Amino acid sequence: MFIDVSNLKKSYKSGMVTTNVLKGIDMKLEKGEIGIILGPSGSGKSTLMNILGGIDRGDSGRVAVDGIEINNLNDDKLTDYRRENIGFVFQFYNLVPNLTVEENIEVVSNISKSPLNIDEVLAAVEMQDKKHRFPRELSGGEQQRVSIARAIVKNPKLLLCDEPTGALDYLTSRSILKLLQQVNQKYGTTILMITHNAAIAAMANRVFKLRSGVIAEDTVNQITVPAERIEW
Ligand SMILES: Nc1ncnc2c1ncn2[C@@H]1O[C@H](COP(=O)(O)OP(=O)(O)OP(=O)(O)O)[C@@H](O)[C@H]1O
Ligand SMILES: [Mg+2]
Repeated sequence: MFIDVSNLKKSYKSGMVTTNVLKGIDMKLEKGEIGIILGPSGSGKSTLMNILGGIDRGDSGRVAVDGIEINNLNDDKLTDYRRENIGFVFQFYNLVPNLTVEENIEVVSNISKSPLNIDEVLAAVEMQDKKHRFPRELSGGEQQRVSIARAIVKNPKLLLCDEPTGALDYLTSRSILKLLQQVNQKYGTTILMITHNAAIAAMANRVFKLRSGVIAEDTVNQITVPAERIEW
């Protein structure tokens, strides 16, 4: 099992108040699958994703990604794990403003063990002709394409997307979802994506509904729908 989470718990303390955010999460996803996490605001989606990506830690339980038990890693090893295995895509693209499209991707490529070819990645996201532009000279959808290129250039085993279409209009959202599906097919990248849009669940192999810190529903889709055919 590529992602194997059992009884994961996480709480945050501020002063005297403790908030139990994850209350015993069980979650499995096979290599090469697309998983989608749905759930209301505050249900713990980003917390769960951040733990899987090694930018936060669970308090207890087992979190294994491709056989690596990440809850047991020390800080240095957790950073290595994240650098070597994880690509992140966020709602607000987080590109470096004073670097061009190509340079934003190069920064990651230069510190990766076995990066993909930058031109190939630019072609995959259809941004070759804009590679010398700066982020401010791009639309939101184009910036998200670049941030996807930056996330996949290291050829990550796991691509984590936290509301990647949250700031985009309908047609642009669909083109980004189609691109993610293409990345999944072309590179075999396992993708876990958070969304508020339940219609998108049709493109996933597996759908997790999070409610108040537990998986309230876990559905396996036998048939997945191409993103460009999903309407909402
Ligand atoms: N670093 C933190 N310190 C304290 N509380 C936190 C921290 N991060 C998250 N929380 C709390 O944990 C809960 C879950 O947050 P999380 O960001 O995981 O929710 P979410 O499901 O991603 O919500 P949204 O859909 O709004 O992004 C919230 O109540 C939030 O306030
Ligand atoms: Mg969130």
